[in-house]
Amino acid sequence: MAAPVGYEKVDLTGKSLIVTGGGSGMGLEASLLLASRGAKVTVVDLAEENGRKTVARITEAGGTAQFVKADITNEDDAAAMVEAAVTAYGGLDGAFNNAGIIGAGGKISDYSLADWNKTLTINLTGAFVSLRAELRYMEKQGYGSIVNTASTAGLIAYPNLPAYVASKHGVVGLTKQVAVDYAPLGIRVNAILPGSTMTPLAEESFADPELKAKAESAQPIGRLGQPEEIAEMAAWLLSDASSFVVGGIFTVDGGVTAA
Ligand SMILES: NC(=O)c1ccc[n+]([C@@H]2O[C@H](COP(=O)([O-])OP(=O)(O)OC[C@H]3O[C@@H](n4cnc5c(N)ncnc54)[C@H](O)[C@@H]3O)[C@@H](O)[C@H]2O)c1
Repeated sequence: MAAPVGYEKVDLTGKSLIVTGGGSGMGLEASLLLASRGAKVTVVDLAEENGRKTVARITEAGGTAQFVKADITNEDDAAAMVEAAVTAYGGLDGAFNNAGIIGAGGKISDYSLADWNKTLTINLTGAFVSLRAELRYMEKQGYGSIVNTASTAGLIAYPNLPAYVASKHGVVGLTKQVAVDYAPLGIRVNAILPGSTMTPLAEESFADPELKAKAESAQPIGRLGQPEEIAEMAAWLLSDASSFVVGGIFTVDGGVTAA
């Protein structure tokens, strides 16, 4: 997508940044974008092949990146991803906690506890585990910027997605809470709330063209988002350009939550 005329690119030169879920969708596009703006990116994913492909694309384009295989719900893995970023790139300036799943659909009376636990564990506990590992390091250095991926489902309900909607409301609440505790320590925490965006996760839900057309027309802008449009917001929040932005909840959704 062409940048608007006069658009000054957000500069991330030299910043050491973690991106979770960097093997696919928004995490993939964010990793490419952040690296293209000068960041040294630690690409984190459970899916090793995809994560390594992201790193290869960055390094082939002349950027700096490394891959760390980690499950964001695992405390040791989260500590290891932070350690890897610090060891390779001399610190941790920021993190995009973006990995997540949509999980099973269904009304709550038919919803299994296993499906509930899976979605809450990856989306909400995963955000907690990632944040805690990053903040344990950042509070020692006295600065940092963290961006969590929630969803418009963190503000409004969607039919048949009880666990997803609850988990993303949880990510919004956690973001605000942590932002308040850590702002005095020089660390900014914010959240992005994407609307329906064309990634492998959404392609799964929109395999039916009728459903896709319905989703497109439900967005005031008349189309679905592209992952690079989410990545731009992440880049700005991770940069020094957003230095007074704390505990913000940013919809990037083509107008869905405004309608
Ligand atoms: N695509 C959308 O329409 C949309 C809308 C709103 C919010 N979101 C959110 O955006 C984020 C990214 O979604 P996407 O659409 O790019 O999805 P995606 O499926 O394309 O990518 C998600 C990545 O996260 C990784 N992942 C999943 N569980 C993990 C774990 N436990 N540890 C480490 N990595 C793990 C997956 O392997 C995958 O590479 C998610 O949090 C999602 O809920 C997506």
